[in-house]
Amino acid sequence: MTELKWWQTAVFYQIYPRSFADGNDDGIGDFKGITQKLDYLASLGVDALWLSPHFPSPNWDCGYDISDYCNVAPEYGTLEDFKTFLAESHKRNLRVILDLVLNHTSDEHPWFVESRSSRDNPKADWYVWMDTPPNNWQSCFDGEAWTYSPERDQYYYHYFMKQQPDLNWHNPEVKKAMWDAIRFWLDMGVDGYRLDALGTIFEDPALTPHTVPMNLAELRRFSDLAKTPEEIKLKDQYWHDMFKNQWGQAGVHELMKELRAILDEYDGDRMLVGEDDNIDYMGNGRDELHLVFNFPLMRTELITPEHIRKNQVERLTKLETLSAEKGWPCNTLGNHDTSRLHTAFGDKLYDSQLARLHAALILTLKGTPFLYNGEEIGMTDYMLTDISQVKDTMGAWYYHTIVTGMGVHPEEAMLRTAKMTRDKNRTPMQWSRQPNAGFSSMDVKTWLPINPNYKEGVNVKDQEHNPGSLLRYYRHLIRVRKDSSALQKGAYIPLKTTTEDYFAFLRQSQEQTVLVILNYSGKISELDLTSEKEFKNANLKILFSSAERRAGKFPPKFKVGPFEVFIAEVIRE
Ligand code: GLC
Repeated sequence: MTELKWWQTAVFYQIYPRSFADGNDDGIGDFKGITQKLDYLASLGVDALWLSPHFPSPNWDCGYDISDYCNVAPEYGTLEDFKTFLAESHKRNLRVILDLVLNHTSDEHPWFVESRSSRDNPKADWYVWMDTPPNNWQSCFDGEAWTYSPERDQYYYHYFMKQQPDLNWHNPEVKKAMWDAIRFWLDMGVDGYRLDALGTIFEDPALTPHTVPMNLAELRRFSDLAKTPEEIKLKDQYWHDMFKNQWGQAGVHELMKELRAILDEYDGDRMLVGEDDNIDYMGNGRDELHLVFNFPLMRTELITPEHIRKNQVERLTKLETLSAEKGWPCNTLGNHDTSRLHTAFGDKLYDSQLARLHAALILTLKGTPFLYNGEEIGMTDYMLTDISQVKDTMGAWYYHTIVTGMGVHPEEAMLRTAKMTRDKNRTPMQWSRQPNAGFSSMDVKTWLPINPNYKEGVNVKDQEHNPGSLLRYYRHLIRVRKDSSALQKGAYIPLKTTTEDYFAFLRQSQEQTVLVILNYSGKISELDLTSEKEFKNANLKILFSSAERRAGKFPPKFKVGPFEVFIAEVIRE
């Protein structure tokens, strides 16, 4: 078997810088704080860090509106602090990838400030300008996609907020400027990039209007109220139809090829992972992105064995078909844009058992796992109760639009807003049971409130000391994965593919075969694998179990307990 690259065997961990660790007590996370926590991350066993944007930004979209691509946001520190962080990470064998936002800049970026200043300045064509709004396109965050600029007496296009104008990627100068920024960090030694919203970079050149009989606010409201299967189907259709001319358009592949060629100039296997689930963005397997996220796995209300099996067949089959080199999978169940695992995929009765199963799923499936900070201690969504607390501007926009424009009662509007904003899953990391969860000192007002469940054991320090904690469980599982060639590189072979109670599969490398069973039911399941060909004359040796099990070998006919995570090596006698 060919040697795998570091990004194929690594466990990635996403850091949301604003909420990870506050090193200077201003209530906002920063590089000093992150650097102090690198030993923690190394001890967790992760191999690579993905940093959400750390660049200067007016923070209309929490850093995804960048005003300088070659610097560090002052609230996070200085370039020197970044370099220290990078060097200290590399010292601990932790790779670092950055967030790369290509589609848009901040409206405070000097490029846009210049572009907006007149119709004939040198950067006049760096963004997408029109004399009048050419269609009814919506911004996916805040209403109309075309915003008037009095300086030019023209409209600019933005897929996201009006403070995030879209760059005109047809202009070669834009490309050159952005590629320079990319090289700036690659030269410094970063190991790659996570590509933000790459599907939105180009628009339909015919500017075809959408056909949905609603605007964005109305569609959001319609979605909030949709109950019947017909309404739910219709709202999904509407979301697709509203934006289908604004993403997934021609041009992205060529751009990704150029970007890949830049990365390949560097040593050290620098890598690209795309915020898109479309495997086509991996090109022929060698000439576009190294990885794209398996988002379909998490786009479901319930994670069930049937859903996982179906997802795996579809993804893995497609990845095999890339023409030059097979594609490598990349699995995740959440990030800074989505509900936390406990909240998203719990059932209110067995949330913690299910969260453990989901962690095991991500760490045993074939492919590179991405974990989001705080999941390892079981952080949950935190619902804000007052509009003044809301930092996610799209949430505040929705609240005010439905209260003033649609007459929705403020109480109901707040409930809807708390659910839809991404603040709920971005609250500060909970380090201890000290006031402010040890994120900042006691008297500091943190940028978002701390989820009070830090006092109930949802914090790193308490869990460090508790052998049964989720943190210790994650650490243990990551170690098991690292020690197993099959779990890192082996093929995926599903077993017992009709059962709805548990998800069973093999991972098989040249050196090792490992059996994984995730019992998604509260019942004991009896398994008899003796007649399966992989188990002829074989015994099982436990590598990990969430239930109490004795060490030693036993035949492949056994019981798994309720919600048990069972991982065993198949030993052929
Ligand atoms: C991506 C980011 C999200 C951001 C958006 C606009 O989807 O993950 O947080 O708001 O792009 O940059």
